[in-house]
Amino acid sequence: MREEAVEAALGKLGLDVRTRLLAGQDMWSLPALPEIGLKSLVMSDGPVGVRGVRWTADDPSVALPSPTALAATWDPELARRVGRLLAQEARRKGVHVLLAPTVNLHRSPLGGRHFECYSEDPYLTGEIGSGYVKGVQDGGVGTTVKHFVANDAETDRFTVDNVIAPRPLRELYLAPFEAIVKNARPWGIMAAYNQVNGVSMTEHRHLQNEVLRGEWGFDGFVVSDWTAARSTTGGIEGGLDVAMPGPATVYGEALAGAVRSGEADESAVDGAVRNVLRLAARVGALEGAPPVVTEPPAAIDGQALAREVARRAFVLLRNENHTLPIDPSKLRKLALVGAAARDARILGGGSATVFPERVVAPLDGLAAALVDSAPAYAVGADPSDELGPAGKGFILRAVCRDAAGGIIGTRSLPGGQVQWIGDDLPDGVTHEALHSVEVRGTFTPRESGEHAFGTRGLGAFTLTVAGEVLYDGAQETGGEGDPFEALFGAPAERGRVRLAAGEPVEVSLVHPVAGTAGAPLPAVVFSFLHGAPRRDADELIARAVEAARDADAAVVVVATTERVESEGFDRTDLRLPGRQDDLVRAVAAANPNTVVVVNSGSPVEMPWREDVAAVLLSWFPGQEGGAALADVLLGAAEPGGRLPTTWPAALTDAPVTQVVPTEGELRYEEGLFIGYRAWDRAGAVPAYAFGHGLGYTTWEYESLEVTPTTARVRVRNTGSRTGREVVQVYLAPQADPVERPVRWLAGFAGVEAGPGEWAEARIALPGRAFEVWDEETGSWSFVPGTYEVRTGRSLADIRLTATLDIED
Ligand code: BGC
Repeated sequence: MREEAVEAALGKLGLDVRTRLLAGQDMWSLPALPEIGLKSLVMSDGPVGVRGVRWTADDPSVALPSPTALAATWDPELARRVGRLLAQEARRKGVHVLLAPTVNLHRSPLGGRHFECYSEDPYLTGEIGSGYVKGVQDGGVGTTVKHFVANDAETDRFTVDNVIAPRPLRELYLAPFEAIVKNARPWGIMAAYNQVNGVSMTEHRHLQNEVLRGEWGFDGFVVSDWTAARSTTGGIEGGLDVAMPGPATVYGEALAGAVRSGEADESAVDGAVRNVLRLAARVGALEGAPPVVTEPPAAIDGQALAREVARRAFVLLRNENHTLPIDPSKLRKLALVGAAARDARILGGGSATVFPERVVAPLDGLAAALVDSAPAYAVGADPSDELGPAGKGFILRAVCRDAAGGIIGTRSLPGGQVQWIGDDLPDGVTHEALHSVEVRGTFTPRESGEHAFGTRGLGAFTLTVAGEVLYDGAQETGGEGDPFEALFGAPAERGRVRLAAGEPVEVSLVHPVAGTAGAPLPAVVFSFLHGAPRRDADELIARAVEAARDADAAVVVVATTERVESEGFDRTDLRLPGRQDDLVRAVAAANPNTVVVVNSGSPVEMPWREDVAAVLLSWFPGQEGGAALADVLLGAAEPGGRLPTTWPAALTDAPVTQVVPTEGELRYEEGLFIGYRAWDRAGAVPAYAFGHGLGYTTWEYESLEVTPTTARVRVRNTGSRTGREVVQVYLAPQADPVERPVRWLAGFAGVEAGPGEWAEARIALPGRAFEVWDEETGSWSFVPGTYEVRTGRSLADIRLTATLDIED
């Protein structure tokens, strides 16, 4: 019925309309075709929330924990509930397709979008991604699993050629996509910017047509990453259905022309249009075609789910002498230290940004939970000595003017960042008419002292604070003319003003916009930056030490900044920015009950980790992070997470640190050996192993029974409170006719049990766990032999083993 409606609609469209449907009409949508009852299909990022079509906080979004956090739950069913919530958000915002999930692998901890991907392990990635996609689609909203394939780092991402041998390509990088396509049947895939083995992914006929559609049976649409489509015939012949964003794309008129001149095959165009119409039918945007979902699932409370996922994701790495949980009834005084304890960093930077209605910082969460003994707070250290986008204390609007100085539109701003790409402009404003943008409003300082102000972006700026013009000049293009300079470039300080706490002042930043004629994508991107008064770093640490000395326990929240973890660039080291390491050492020396909360999306070095009582990873915990943190620190809930990725002690120990291409190529020389597969091969020991994470109870593994398809593991809760255990199963071949890792994750399951009770985890062992990609035959090949099946709490804490003979 749906397919018939699709065919009927296709038959009514002439070539020009068909090719128009394959090109974005603007930043986020495809054109409506009223003649066939087709609505405009709207897409939006993704993955921790649904931003909608505008870069503003006017229509806020629930902000969930980072993808690394979701993977740390090791719970595909929870991922499915997350997906359902996101579908609910998408429907509310008129979005048909969510640009998520990101299932590239943690090849190196330096990858800038590490926080946005799930794991170093393809199986765990595939399981979490499948749950997520099923959930979003349960709600009748499409997904685009991205970025297909091997967008595992950011350096030169538009052009880099990732050179990957067939085995690692199949067994690692393609594997999560394959699993998700087969298990969750996504309605979309996003083709990556990069090349793989010399071919741009948007034109990769082999991977898109032969592997994705041919071998795996994918029947959805393939959309380009934003501006990734560069060739009309290359794209259409290579399996790319939709070129985004518009209106200037390589499809549309150019594609119609290519068909007419015989350069492109009309049947390829029809195939692509069919895929788009099928998507429209599935999401209910094509009249007469039954949508997949007619009754969306029951409404979900977004705040409650964001809080639940956060506490289920927190990974307790270390907990000496049962420091955690802290018993609030015995607590006289808690010291809370860290800039991120007050100004929480809840998500990573780039296209994954959403603007939530509220943010619960650790200080808010703990103050609410400890009503009778409010925590003593100290900043301790500035994680960054650079200015950041104006945030707390600012109320800002953008005022748009035409050439005559008349106001043509205004928009409230989520902070100091203006990021209007394509036609995402305030109502009534066009790029043609827009002459200047003024960011203006008030700033009420939290602290007295000398505040710094600045700009990020290219072109002219006039910056005025409290009536004083701090800067009136122009920022020239950087040497390279990097188009992303305005987004990710270095901040420029323009002046300082002495201000008093609590006293509001007027602020204004005027920026004449440069003409955008001829640019593929007109954009207005610049930032109004602020820096709090600089205080003496030693003095800040000394104050934190004082607070800690006087308390029963000290919680230090350390964090990365948006200049460390973001889309658009890779990291160059894994250090915590600023003096945060010194701060932790000093506080730990003053208070033996020091708990360090690590607020980052990806691994950081923790040189002090053996000197503190407890270490808890909170990832980028989403909008309810502080509330979840209070739940876990004070024992209302146990931290449920397990590491989805190995944490090295130091960057130099990490197996893969090469993310910078040489002459345009990035060779994946390590082959199959990334993550724990590499640590095992080298016989090296990381700071914390894959799968590691403590809870608040203890577990005994009582029995393990295996067949070639299942492992049954009985575990008993030997502690005094109810808990949840993630039972992990690894396979280790005993003799190997082919080169393989020492062991790999074959399955896992979460079980719950009360004190003294037992539970049984039934874990399916997928056939693929016993297969390798045979480069000679170009097919999967089953490897018979003897395997040791190991089950335990992590790769480094195996409790039981059994032997399995697998016959040919
Ligand atoms: C990112 C995608 C994102 C798209 C739209 C690109 O730069 O790589 O992940 O979905 O922008 O915002």
